[in-house]
Amino acid sequence: MAPRKLHVLFCLFGCLPLVLPFHWQDPPPFDFKSSAWFHKIQAVMSTARSGHSKIPKGNGSYPVGCTDLMFGYANESVFLRLYYPAQDPDRLDTVWIPNKEYFFGLSKFLGTPQFIGNILSFLYGSMTTPASWNSPLRTGEKYPLVIFSHGLGAFRTIYSAIGIGLASYGFIVATVEHRDGSASATYYFEDQVAAKVENRTWLYLKMLKQEEEEKVRKQQVQQRAKECSQALSAILDIGHGSPKENILGSYFDVKQLEGAIDEDKIAVFGHSFGGATVIQALSEDQRFKCGVSLDPWMYPVSEELYSKIPQPLFFINSAQFQSPKDIMKMKRFYQPGKERNMITIKGSVHQNFADFTFVTGKIVGTRLTLKGEIDSGVAIDLTNKASLAFLQRHLGLHKDFNQWDSLVEGKNKNLIPGSPSDVVNLSPTLQSSPGSHTQN
Ligand SMILES: *[C@@H]1O[C@H](CO)[C@@H](O)[C@H](O)[C@H]1NC(C)=O
Ligand SMILES: *[C@@H]1O[C@H](CO)[C@@H](O)[C@H](O)[C@H]1NC(C)=O
Ligand SMILES: *[C@@H]1O[C@H](CO)[C@@H](O)[C@H](O)[C@H]1NC(C)=O
Repeated sequence: MAPRKLHVLFCLFGCLPLVLPFHWQDPPPFDFKSSAWFHKIQAVMSTARSGHSKIPKGNGSYPVGCTDLMFGYANESVFLRLYYPAQDPDRLDTVWIPNKEYFFGLSKFLGTPQFIGNILSFLYGSMTTPASWNSPLRTGEKYPLVIFSHGLGAFRTIYSAIGIGLASYGFIVATVEHRDGSASATYYFEDQVAAKVENRTWLYLKMLKQEEEEKVRKQQVQQRAKECSQALSAILDIGHGSPKENILGSYFDVKQLEGAIDEDKIAVFGHSFGGATVIQALSEDQRFKCGVSLDPWMYPVSEELYSKIPQPLFFINSAQFQSPKDIMKMKRFYQPGKERNMITIKGSVHQNFADFTFVTGKIVGTRLTLKGEIDSGVAIDLTNKASLAFLQRHLGLHKDFNQWDSLVEGKNKNLIPGSPSDVVNLSPTLQSSPGSHTQN
């Protein structure tokens, strides 16, 4: 396979490979019993039933609340999930994936028949993530803000381990749901009447022909960056006290956010396609004071941005996803006088940053490359703590996150300073970790 093609494959299935990747490339005739993904779905079902699906609580000292916010109608609307320091002690009643259409979208993304969506919805539809739904915001402090951009085939709710993790250390985290056709599924309301009767208009993943790939991905990354900026503007407007209606009409009163945002302390985060979005957003919007790019998909990143990111940028990579060419691309952002950091989490896979890494057991998770050799909790803990140290340094926070400064330099037994190709040089055995996509 050509490297580029391989890469696209990695990214697509890099997002949520619950089933075998080769369906996307060359769909075989449908043969229910003998198809390998059938066995994998069976395996996922059995672990889901045995109760292994556990997204971890944040390790910080703040209880965490969660709500969904939507501002505006139709394709102009902004949609996000907000994690924040909460008043209530942890109630852990936030539904992780709240509509069955997301499971249908996932099943389409994975190239499986729609009934798989029903199965996934049955298994995971009532699963919760550890945050108190609509809890009042904890008052008495201004919080720094993180805008988070999801990966291809993902959506706003499946990075809760990171969102909750950062919120438990005193951040407000807004995970944007993108409307560029890269989410497995998303929805909006056409108008006020539709919102009132909850008549949702669903948008599913846009499938691309190979010849339109390059053009469309570049358009998408631009739209994604714009959506991050729009989400930021909406939250800052509320922070300044301009009333904005949450058309989802939930019990979370957005007026609580008035005066609660520390508006000089804003960062942008993202995973995979979202990692590319981080770079684009930094170049376009100076309100983002720094960025953390988790295993970015470098393909849609435009070369003209190399010299256009004045803000500090932190790459946190998994051990398997990046090609040497992509590492080269990342290193082009290392320009004189610019703050750049890069670490690699040993034994991790691309999916270690999304919640799916926590919802299956060890064996199944490893086989489906949702888990790496490293424990998923340890990988998220390192991701969150290294990010916090980086944020303290570049947002000027007065906290104790500098205790993890050494992680930003890659000084830990589970980290490599620099790129995954440095991993290859240091430890060739990691190359043969289980679950490499191409061997599936
Ligand atoms: C929304 O849709 C209208 C009409 O289809 C189009 O003109 C407009 O550019 C779209 N806006 C965005 C933000 O995509
Ligand atoms: C829901 O919205 C669609 C598109 O705007 C419209 O065609 C349909 O009639 C609406 N359905 C209901 C039950 O209001
Ligand atoms: C919390 O900290 C413990 C101990 O350091 C670690 O094992 C665990 O994975 C952490 N959890 C998260 C969500 O970071």
